[in-house]
Amino acid sequence: MSVDHEKQRAARAAADLVERGMRVGLGTGSTVAFLLVELARRRVSATYVATSPHTARAAREHGIEVDSFASLDRLDLAIDGADQVAPDGWLIKGAGGALTREKIVAASADRFVVIVDASKMVAALSAPVPLELSRFGLVATLRRLGATELRDAPPSPDGGVLADHFALVTDPAALSARLSDVPGVVAHGLFSPSLVDEVIVGRGDECQRLRLGGTP
Ligand code: A5P
Repeated sequence: MSVDHEKQRAARAAADLVERGMRVGLGTGSTVAFLLVELARRRVSATYVATSPHTARAAREHGIEVDSFASLDRLDLAIDGADQVAPDGWLIKGAGGALTREKIVAASADRFVVIVDASKMVAALSAPVPLELSRFGLVATLRRLGATELRDAPPSPDGGVLADHFALVTDPAALSARLSDVPGVVAHGLFSPSLVDEVIVGRGDECQRLRLGGTP
């Protein structure tokens, strides 16, 4: 079964969670591209916000109206992909560079649902961990971080510099705390299980649903 088929299965299951009148955060990436197709097909009237200009554009191309996330205080649901999902629910996100907005949207949602194909399920997380860094003091921040490579990529929509951190991810909670503690780090791609309510995994023709702790 193809990876795209598995992404589409997970995306369809997540699209079924969207109900009329909800405020919904849309993630970024190729799995979310399938979600947009499913949402356009279902035509549920909801308020949508996007985690990237790319997703906002793609949603509008599908006839889905996207609002600004400047004035909403919370979301009912957010749906996004991931690069890696560990058995305990820790995620690595941000290969597409949208990690800061993705984390803000996930943390603002009453329910955060992750959609992945089976290849994203890993026994243990591994480097790299995507980072968004402040341009101010960049070289000093890189020295404090160590083991970090800048991406050859345009800045984030908020002007941040995208990079990848290559430390061992043996203890995601400890690494998350260490990265959060470096002032020039705007956001990092480790997402704690406390943010995640459910992971929907497309596996062959089936969907496997892993329910986690969710937002405290
Ligand atoms: C975007 O910045 C990422 O966090 C994506 O959510 C993640 O890379 C998954 O993308 P795919 O669905 O394309 O694998």
